[in-house]
Amino acid sequence: MFSQSLKHASSNPSLNSPTRQVDLSQRSFRSVSDFRKAKRDGKKISMLSVYDAVFARLAVDAGVNTILVGDSVAMALYGFESTIHATVEMIASHVGAVRRSCPGAFIVADLPFGSYRRGLKTAMKAVEAMARAGASAIKLEGVAGNEKIVSHVIESGIPVMGHIGLTPQSVLALGGYKVQGGTEEEAARLIEDAKELEDLGAFSLVLECVGRNLGSRISSSLSIPVIGIGAGAEVDGQVLVASDLLGLSPGRSPRFVRRYIDGSSLVSKAFEEFCRQVGEAQYPSESESYD
Ligand code: KIV
Repeated sequence: MFSQSLKHASSNPSLNSPTRQVDLSQRSFRSVSDFRKAKRDGKKISMLSVYDAVFARLAVDAGVNTILVGDSVAMALYGFESTIHATVEMIASHVGAVRRSCPGAFIVADLPFGSYRRGLKTAMKAVEAMARAGASAIKLEGVAGNEKIVSHVIESGIPVMGHIGLTPQSVLALGGYKVQGGTEEEAARLIEDAKELEDLGAFSLVLECVGRNLGSRISSSLSIPVIGIGAGAEVDGQVLVASDLLGLSPGRSPRFVRRYIDGSSLVSKAFEEFCRQVGEAQYPSESESYD
């Protein structure tokens, strides 16, 4: 995903690395106050973008703090070229699946492209669909033009997570998936945007694809946590798309993706083995058959 213009990793340090013990104190967050507390206590926040009951359960059991049902679902599961193709119905349906398998988890739902740029009424319809499907909060991209919507959604009782830096819903205007905030002027704009989101009442924000120094500057200038994706290590947490870190996404990954397993090879081998065994009448065995 997001591989077009970003620099690619040349090596994959995580494949074959020894399994580490999960820190069981890092459990699923319950409310926005857990985000504030994590920042105050200097604890890094883990977020995974997952879309279905199986992977959501695995992520929560592994100790992830919060789940994002991102609009990346359009690319990861539906095969679209960009997140622009995600719809309210598509995301809400995946939020429902995740909620049913993880009743207590903190679930952030992305508002898809277009759903919050056609006035408050349309935006609130999308927010209501996400909340009714089981979202604990919504995430939307950008700041300029969204100020009223952010305030209104928060006043209506739904927490808002911001998303700045590389905002994939604006990929056509940005001219591709590129690192953002390269000039001092662009960096200053991003710092202002981040502060504005905090002032509007956002409980957290995603910061995508900026240099590590800018990530650090933005994180240290806010009291709400900054969850980075390609924003370096000195932010308050990290988010990845699960299919990227599992090595299930086609094509080469951007530099910030760490592939923890080569999922594509593992799954392909299992499927090939199934096909071979069916072809050679090795499956099912007697013990896999009923009397
Ligand atoms: O859609 C998504 O999964 C996201 C993350 C990559 C932050 O927005």
